[in-house]
Amino acid sequence: MDTYNILIVDDESDFRTLLVEALESMGYLCEGAENGEAALDLARSKHFSIIFTDLNMPGGLSGLDLLQKVREIDPKTFCILMTGYATLDSSIQALKNGAYDFIQKPFKLAELEASLQRALSHYKALRGIEAYQTELERRVEERTREVVTLKDDIENLFEGFVKASVSAIEARDPSTRGHSVRVAKLTVALAEAVNATPSGAWGGHHFTAQQLKELRYASLLHDFGKVGVSERVLTKPKKLEEERLERILQRLFQRDLEGAAARLEDAWKRNLAYDENFYGATLAAYRAETGRMSDLVIRCNEPKVLPQNIMEAMDELEALEFLHHDGQIARVLESTDIAALRIPKGSLSEAERKEINSHVTKTYQFLSQIPWTGSLANVPEIAYTHHERLNGMGYPRGLEKDAIPPQSKLMAICDVYDALVAADRPYKVAVTVPRSLEILEAEANANLLDVNALRIFLDAEIYMIPLPESEQV
Ligand SMILES: [Fe+2]
Ligand SMILES: [Fe+2]
Repeated sequence: MDTYNILIVDDESDFRTLLVEALESMGYLCEGAENGEAALDLARSKHFSIIFTDLNMPGGLSGLDLLQKVREIDPKTFCILMTGYATLDSSIQALKNGAYDFIQKPFKLAELEASLQRALSHYKALRGIEAYQTELERRVEERTREVVTLKDDIENLFEGFVKASVSAIEARDPSTRGHSVRVAKLTVALAEAVNATPSGAWGGHHFTAQQLKELRYASLLHDFGKVGVSERVLTKPKKLEEERLERILQRLFQRDLEGAAARLEDAWKRNLAYDENFYGATLAAYRAETGRMSDLVIRCNEPKVLPQNIMEAMDELEALEFLHHDGQIARVLESTDIAALRIPKGSLSEAERKEINSHVTKTYQFLSQIPWTGSLANVPEIAYTHHERLNGMGYPRGLEKDAIPPQSKLMAICDVYDALVAADRPYKVAVTVPRSLEILEAEANANLLDVNALRIFLDAEIYMIPLPESEQV
């Protein structure tokens, strides 16, 4: 059972003792104090649920003074005034001072108990509400802590997932190591530079912290679809794969021997005597011819733009024949070899180029499966649009200027820049920074890249920001 401390304050000792004993006999913990000062001392040392106090006590504190002081020391205590000559004024004053109730002397014990019961039931109700509130606050605090921890956990988990995804891209295509991270750093820096640009075409754009975060994720994952492109195509350094080139060179060598053998056979048929000079010259002529053809094949195999005379010399290559082991005369270079060597720029055939380009759609399909929360909802679309160009000549959708999200326009600049300056792509050597900037300007002038965003990229010297070598996300 709950216990409640009750204090009786009255200067009349008999009366005080009577009340204390009466309340104790009813089962209450009760004490007495002979004046206001003694009552305050007790109130400082422990909590009283209810204090009954006389209104008028000679010398020292009055009942009203005591009320006020008790409220300061222990505001949870309920005070009830006992007064011998209650006037309306003193009653109002008592209630104003925070008295819970007052009873008029003389009173019967039953009246005192009734007043005490009322006060206690109110007191208990208030304490119950307080306890409930405290418990509620504790639970809210606990839940808030849990939610914050959960949010941190989810963010960490997601960072980890993005990091793992970036590692997966780079494991697939080590030659573009660090590309995703560098593009993310450059793009976010460019977006921040846009934020700092007060006027001009980009003056009205402001990316919030959440939008910068969204842009960072989109940039980190923009090439994720490369995991779905075959490694052979992704890392293809030359037009012909090594074994195909080897087979062609071997066939040219065989053709050389076949030619020399035919010349010698012809000489024997004509009963010519062995002539060392003739034999040597014949072989040397065929060797020279083979060497020229082999050089031509090797030059055409490079992923460079081919000069016109080389393109024409390829007709000669196309016509070369040799004796296949099945006894048939066959072409030294098969039609697929010729098609590969005729690729005018780079190392990829049209079909291979399409396969590489499909990484954008694959990125989008992958990212669309992730339930991005509200502020990150545009990650798939921003990444999906990183190879679109303002004049509609980009891929995969051929979107035009107004249909391309501003974030993707910024990313496109950084993506092209990093692809140019990267030293490690299989099909090209690194381009210097000044030359890369010239190429970017040419692309902007050709309405491929956003000329105003490029201006900010150049003015803010985004290309100068320190970039990590590897895949530190
Ligand atoms: Fe890409
Ligand atoms: Fe890229």
